Amino acid sequence: MRTVRIEKIVNENPRVKTFYFKDKLCQNARPGQFLMVWIPGVDEIPLSVSGVYPNGLASVTVAKVGEATEAMHKLKQNDLIGVRGPFGNHFEISGNKFLLIGGGTGMASLAFLAEKMAEKPCEITFIIGAKSAHELLFLERVRKALSGIKSKVMVFTEDGSFGLKGLATDPLSSLLKQESYDMIYVCGPEPMIRKAFLAAKEADISFQASLERIMRCGVGVCGSCMIGKYRVCRDGPVFNSRQLKEVIDELGKYKINFDGRKIRIH
Ligand SMILES: Cc1cc2nc3c(=O)[nH]c(=O)nc-3n(C[C@H](O)[C@H](O)[C@H](O)COP(=O)(O)OP(=O)(O)OC[C@H]3O[C@@H](n4cnc5c(N)ncnc54)[C@H](O)[C@@H]3O)c2cc1C
Ligand code: FES
Repeated sequence: MRTVRIEKIVNENPRVKTFYFKDKLCQNARPGQFLMVWIPGVDEIPLSVSGVYPNGLASVTVAKVGEATEAMHKLKQNDLIGVRGPFGNHFEISGNKFLLIGGGTGMASLAFLAEKMAEKPCEITFIIGAKSAHELLFLERVRKALSGIKSKVMVFTEDGSFGLKGLATDPLSSLLKQESYDMIYVCGPEPMIRKAFLAAKEADISFQASLERIMRCGVGVCGSCMIGKYRVCRDGPVFNSRQLKEVIDELGKYKINFDGRKIRIH
């Protein structure tokens, strides 16, 4: 584990902060990869790399949901954290016409992916979903990244407080009837991934999604992150259409709890 100093903290919304730090290995991180981040004295948690910048900085973007993430939100500039990784595979950029669907903190790796894609000529439709206007993440960052290419950004909030009212997956069936894409990329809550995957399968469009599971070791040893025959930390976190088809009985329906029991996702 490397110890790094927090160089900058940005409040993204009332529940989410981005932490910037300098780390050589993270400079090579690709969108979709994650770090195991040690919050001193509290816990170690998996967090996606949300960006890598030319000035040597990298970032993680963290929603406050429980003990470790609350402790991380209390950290200040110049405090120290530990990082292991980057771990896991990454989104493969294949083709030149893409549909990206991001929900909640899933936007961390998808905004990073959109920035990488937009370095080369391509066409991107980006659907961003959030519970409410307060929880929207990286809308301006995405708009800026896509400003130089042919693109469309659609925003859905569950309470209708910004953009269109509904879920990010709501426009999918009509969109996929009108348009074709080389690849659909999704990161967000697993029920959302399931819905998007079934719509992509129906339209016969290739698909990649990043999954989240409870992680302890982060390197394929402990088995706490299983979905079907796969370990999300080692075989993922990004899975393609073929792999998701193999785990369709669990995808968006069941996860492994902290005590190792399989429980239903609500
Ligand atoms: C590959 C991967 C990438 C992730 N990237 C991000 C990210 O970029 N930003 C972000 O805010 N969160 C991300 N997460 C989720 C993040 O790891 C959890 O929110 C965090 O571990 C919760 O810790 P806690 O102690 O604050 O909450 P807890 O009190 O432990 O739990 C609160 C909630 O978080 C879930 N959770 C707890 N621990 C984990 C864990 N180790 N893995 C997955 N879910 C967990 C629990 O099921 C519960 O619903 C990612 C998870 C994975 C597996
Ligand atoms: S976190 Fe231990 S096997 Fe994946």
